[in-house]
Amino acid sequence: MAAVAELNPSSPCKRPALCSSLKCSYALSRHYNRRSLFLRPAPVSRGSKIYCSVTSNEIQAPVAVKIDDPKKKAECYGVFCLTYDLKAEEETQSWKKLINIAVSGAAGMISNHLLFRLASGEVFGPNQPIALKLLGSQRSIQALEGVAMELEDSLFPLLREVSIGIDPYEVFQDAEWALLIGAKPRGPGMERAGLLDINGQIFAEQGKALNAVASRNVQVIVVGNPCNTNALICLKNAPNIPAKNFHALTRLDENRAKCQLALKAGVFYDKVSNVTIWGNHSTTQVPDFLNAKIDGLPVKEVVKDTKWLEEEFTEKVQKRGGVLIQKWGRSSAASTSVSILDAIRSLVTPTPEGDWFSSGVYTTGNPYSIAEDIVFSMPCRSKGDGDYELVKDVVFDDYLWSRIKKTEAELLAEKKCVAHLTGEGVAVCDLPGDTMLPGEM
Ligand code: LMR
Repeated sequence: MAAVAELNPSSPCKRPALCSSLKCSYALSRHYNRRSLFLRPAPVSRGSKIYCSVTSNEIQAPVAVKIDDPKKKAECYGVFCLTYDLKAEEETQSWKKLINIAVSGAAGMISNHLLFRLASGEVFGPNQPIALKLLGSQRSIQALEGVAMELEDSLFPLLREVSIGIDPYEVFQDAEWALLIGAKPRGPGMERAGLLDINGQIFAEQGKALNAVASRNVQVIVVGNPCNTNALICLKNAPNIPAKNFHALTRLDENRAKCQLALKAGVFYDKVSNVTIWGNHSTTQVPDFLNAKIDGLPVKEVVKDTKWLEEEFTEKVQKRGGVLIQKWGRSSAASTSVSILDAIRSLVTPTPEGDWFSSGVYTTGNPYSIAEDIVFSMPCRSKGDGDYELVKDVVFDDYLWSRIKKTEAELLAEKKCVAHLTGEGVAVCDLPGDTMLPGEM
């Protein structure tokens, strides 16, 4: 999914120990009609700034946050700077412990759809107080303040704390959820490998920050494209957080596939279940109609038109993001945010009996013989505790497996492209074709 650029400004590094993120200098050489890039790590400095600190759960007189350098515009938004005690009020006494949700790209379109629904409690429930930790960029800081102001004006009872900043090491402090939306959209003429490198650096940095300051069991959902490989980079840079906790958002693709199947079968989309998106969030993704069901029946028993399933349906889902960009002039935002909420909900509520959901997750130990050590969308089930297990009872045929191999090959090639960001040496980028969703231009 595309979103707002979140590149940190280069400012002198204030904590050398935390300044090991990599920036690439790369040499481009073309081999026939293939793109080949060789990327080597080079040091980069990190911007550092915090704009708002949050308060504790204790009763105190309202306090203003101390600002050591007023030029940094460190301020928190009046109501979110107040301290409070949930235990002191009858109606909040039974509430759960506050959860910290960090969101990057917080001033962008996707977040604008997302934050207000998160704050309303519709995903985490009516007794779950929420702290939002919003990460923006130097460029978006005014807009980020605007977001915080609108959150204030919405008077959400469950929204207890809001902080904003441009330093992931500050913003990700104690995060229990990290929704990584911010990424640089692909500009005109930009090579896919170039985008992988630029965004990869953001996610390497954010992985390091999560590793340093987030909750040890933070659940991370990577939305910024190319989200599978960004998630891989992020988890490789966060060795102290279980790799299983990192997800690349493919739920939007699942939702799109369900809609198309419903349309073809002439049923409402709530009748479509067991839809897996396999692989990459790119045009090689595989919407699985072999295991999917309509009204409890295998799709192929309801939709007998195999040609349509293999060609039209598959391509429609694969290219839906690109078609939307043509219509809107920008990437999908509202439906992306809905699918982020769906993805979270799927992890915090038990999966309905017999069903599953798709998520891009770490492949090591997968039961399908998909290559290890990549982030690949697969069918998952959850008990609602934030964790998930991979579904074992799925079947493959030649068509499905050959498509899976293609999207796997693409992810393996992307992985080689970002070796300099995952600590696996010098990157060699040799991408067979440009199958990535177009992103905002
Ligand atoms: C989408 O699926 O809508 C987006 O990921 C497309 C894009 O390239 O931003």
